Amino acid sequence: MFELTGKTAVITGASRGIGKEIALKFARQGANIAFLHYMDADNAAATEKELNEIGIKAKGYECNVADFEGCKAAFDQIIEDFGEVHILVNNAGIVRDMLMLQMKEADFDAVISVNLKGAFNMTKSVYQHFMKKRRGRIINISSIVGLTGNAGQANYASAKAGLIGLTKSVAKELGSRNVTANAIAPGFIKTDMTDGMPEKAREAALAAIPMKRMGTVDDIANTALFLASDEAAYITGEVIRVDGGMVM
Ligand code: NAI
Repeated sequence: MFELTGKTAVITGASRGIGKEIALKFARQGANIAFLHYMDADNAAATEKELNEIGIKAKGYECNVADFEGCKAAFDQIIEDFGEVHILVNNAGIVRDMLMLQMKEADFDAVISVNLKGAFNMTKSVYQHFMKKRRGRIINISSIVGLTGNAGQANYASAKAGLIGLTKSVAKELGSRNVTANAIAPGFIKTDMTDGMPEKAREAALAAIPMKRMGTVDDIANTALFLASDEAAYITGEVIRVDGGMVM
């Protein structure tokens, strides 16, 4: 089950956190991995080494997903290096949390550029390749705050809600070509991103989770693996919450 041997996955933001765990999980299931990273060279080198030790082909590419031409160039290089691509995971994301009162235009633009436009840029790069091959999997890492909104995250919640709209639109456009597009909406997951949260916000988040624990990167990677696998062939346009029941 969930075999990925012979497939190549492109994963953005896989130098650490959720993206790295998705890369490792896919690699253990036999997939070759091309991953993007940005301003995180040491972690990227360590990830590339760990992936290659699994015995598959893996390579990291320095690329800012907010840069349209940069994404296209990275994708062209990946095709040259790997031949073809079967799975795209749009995972790269940043936060710049603050109330609207303090939020500057640049704070809004930065988060939209990476979290939403970054996914557009990479999807646009892979689109024709998947269309021609008449197969492909797109998995977008959204967030439960894209479903609910969140005080202090107007930029981030807008980007994550937009990502759901992008997912469903692509699912409708490419369904007849046997390409699926789905989103995962993680809840409160233990990573470097959430390690930076104030203690009060962490306590409030935990209190709102029926399962009374933070999620792990493994919880998200397992869901991504399922969506990437042949077993999920008839699922498209779906948003799967992985949040311990936080939003229902
Ligand atoms: P993280 O901060 O640990 O890792 C983010 C990754 O994205 C890093 O590899 C970083 O180098 C990369 N990245 C950042 N900006 C980039 C850019 N401009 N171009 C290319 N790569 C870039 O974050 P984490 O926690 O692993 O989050 C991964 C995804 O999951 C993000 O999209 C995040 O919004 C989402 N998410 C995380 C949750 C959590 O609780 N940790 C909850 C819901 C969603």
